[in-house]
Amino acid sequence: MSIVIETKNLCRHFGSGDTLVKALQHNNITIEKGEFTAVIGPSGSGKSTLLQLVGGLDTPTSGDVILDSKNISLMSGVELSDFRRDHIGFIFQAYNLIPVLSAKENIEYVMQLQGLKDKERNLRVQHILKAIGLEGLANRRPAELSGGQQQRVAVARAMVSQPSIILADEPTANLDSQTGASLLDMMKTLNEKENMTFIFSTHDPMVMERAKRIIRLVDGQVESDERTA
Ligand SMILES: Nc1ncnc2c1ncn2[C@@H]1O[C@H](COP(=O)(O)OP(=O)(O)OP(=O)(O)O)[C@@H](O)[C@H]1O
Ligand SMILES: [Mg+2]
Repeated sequence: MSIVIETKNLCRHFGSGDTLVKALQHNNITIEKGEFTAVIGPSGSGKSTLLQLVGGLDTPTSGDVILDSKNISLMSGVELSDFRRDHIGFIFQAYNLIPVLSAKENIEYVMQLQGLKDKERNLRVQHILKAIGLEGLANRRPAELSGGQQQRVAVARAMVSQPSIILADEPTANLDSQTGASLLDMMKTLNEKENMTFIFSTHDPMVMERAKRIIRLVDGQVESDERTA
């Protein structure tokens, strides 16, 4: 097994003095390729902060994040954004779809940045639209889709560029249980077929049930870390 993510003594503090919040404290977490890991814990325990740091969207107060054997704090801004584009897919609660682009265009966006040829892009978009059950809705903009449909577009967009790592912050929050379940099945299929590595935060028991590893954070520290499979 190869290690794709490693945090070393990772700390993230916010504020100072009386308002100091130690959102993450001395985390040493190792994620192997192909793992399907849920990060759980009470509200405010540091789950979103951890995902942001691992994805290079935020900078640690101290400690390191190592992705595919590279310390991201040693990368230049351009190097880091290229790395993110090519290796990491993000799925966040607020979807972050681009409002003026259609579902299809939102899904294509990263592949365009990667310089993929039209033909390959179209093939992949058709394939993934089918997989998420949105074939007929390709030309709609986010505002013309339901929350669950937007969430599926966000998942498709994160997965279609075939990143090695997908980070998802509460991917099933705000979804009805049926849509949530089909989304999870999609993630699991990609995990099993393509060996993509998933880390997702969740409060959802259904998600926890399907995880192969559960890391529980309390007050910014790992309280337990168990593999269920
Ligand atoms: N930008 C920020 N400025 C100040 N404090 C912050 C900031 N971001 C997060 N925090 C604080 O850091 C702690 C961890 O927050 P985080 O968002 O990681 O929690 P979480 O586990 O994702 O919670 P939830 O389950 O509610 O999403 C909280 O106490 C939060 O208030
Ligand atoms: Mg959160």
